[in-house]
Amino acid sequence: MKAILRRRFGPPEELQLAEIPRPEPAAGEVLVRVRASSVNAFDRGFVRGTPLLGRLMMGLLLPSTPRIGAALAGVVEVVGAGVTRFKSGDEVYGTGLGAYAEFVCSRERKLAPKPRNLSFEQAAAVPIAAITAFNGLHERIPPARTVLITGAAGGVGSFAVQLAKLLGAEVTGVCHSQALDFVRSLGADHVIDYAASDYTHGAARYDLLFDVSGEKPLSACRRLLNQGGVYLLVGSPPGYWVAPIDKALVTLARSWFSRGTLGVMLARSSSDELVALKDLIEAGKITPAIDSAYPGRGAGRAPSLRSGPPPRQGRDQHRRQLMARDSALGL
Ligand SMILES: NC(=O)c1ccc[n+]([C@@H]2O[C@H](COP(=O)([O-])OP(=O)(O)OC[C@H]3O[C@@H](n4cnc5c(N)ncnc54)[C@H](OP(=O)(O)O)[C@@H]3O)[C@@H](O)[C@H]2O)c1
Repeated sequence: MKAILRRRFGPPEELQLAEIPRPEPAAGEVLVRVRASSVNAFDRGFVRGTPLLGRLMMGLLLPSTPRIGAALAGVVEVVGAGVTRFKSGDEVYGTGLGAYAEFVCSRERKLAPKPRNLSFEQAAAVPIAAITAFNGLHERIPPARTVLITGAAGGVGSFAVQLAKLLGAEVTGVCHSQALDFVRSLGADHVIDYAASDYTHGAARYDLLFDVSGEKPLSACRRLLNQGGVYLLVGSPPGYWVAPIDKALVTLARSWFSRGTLGVMLARSSSDELVALKDLIEAGKITPAIDSAYPGRGAGRAPSLRSGPPPRQGRDQHRRQLMARDSALGL
C-alpha cells in the first residue's frame, strides 16, 4: 500500500510517498481503508520532531515510526479478532496512528460510525479538533455563561465556538481580522481582532477562558476572569526545545493551588465522544469548516504542517487544513 512517511525528523517538504506492506489488524483492531485524513497542530510537531523534549516519546534521533497522521475517515476493510461493533464495508471516522496512508489499523474504541451527512473529507476534520473542544466545554458550560475562546478560527476553536453557543454560552472569539466574519458565522456573539487590539487589556470579564492559542501570559489571562471563573489552557505557540510543553507544565503546577480555577486540557479520544459528536453533526448543530484540501502527494504543502504559524499578511487559511486521500487524489 502507499503511505506518506517521514524517515527522519525535518520539514514537511521531506515527506515521502512510499510503498509499504499493508498492516494486519491485531485483536481488537480494525483495518480502515483511509479516504481522508486531516492535518492537526499535533502532526506538525510529529513531522519535525519538535519540541526536542517530545523526542523522549517520538524517538531520540530517528522517528520511532516513519508513519504519520492521526485523524481519519474511511471504510472498514477487515476487522481483527474480538471486534464486535464494526464489519467490513462500514463507514467510520476516528483516530489511528499512521493515517496518511491507504490503510491504517485503529483500536475499535478509537472509531465510530461516520456522520451520515458528512463527506469523508469533512468527517476527517472532526476527530481531534472537535473532541478537544467537546472535552473542554461540555461539562463547564453551564455553569460558565460567558466564554472567551482564543484561536477561534482554527480547527479546535471553530468547533469550540459552535459547541459553546450550543451549550448556551455568550461567546467571544479571538481571531485574525480576516477571520472575523467566519467566526461570527459560527455563532460568536462578539469577535476580537487580536492584530488590532490586545484582548487582555479589555474591560470585559468572562466565566471561562478557553485558551486555544495560548499566546498571552497566564497572569494577564487570569485578570480576564470573573470571580470563580476558570482558565483552561488548550494549546500554545510551538517551540524548538520545550515549548509548548513548558507552558502546560507551569499551568499544571499552578493548577494544584488554584481550587479548580486553572486547568490544562488533555483531550481523550474515544468512541463515546465520537458518537456524541456524530449525533450533534447529524442533527445539524455543528459542522466542520474546511478551507483547503490537498492531495496525498501535496501533504508537505499543507500550511498546518509547516513549522510555525503561516505569515500573517494576505493569507486566507484560518480553519482546518485537510489532506485528503482517494483514488482521484493521486496517493
Ligand atoms: N490539549 C489538547 O488536548 C489539544 C488537542 C488538540 C490541539 N491542541 C492544541 O491546540 C492548538 C490549536 O490547534 P488547532 O488544531 O486548532 O490549530 P490551528 O487550526 O492551526 O489554529 C490555531 C489558531 O491559533 C490562532 N492564533 C495564532 N496566533 C495567534 C495570536 N497571536 N493570537 C490569537 N490567536 C492566534 C490562529 O488564528 P488566525 O488564523 O486567526 O491567525 C489559528 O486559528 C495547538 O497548539 C494544538 O497543539 C491541544
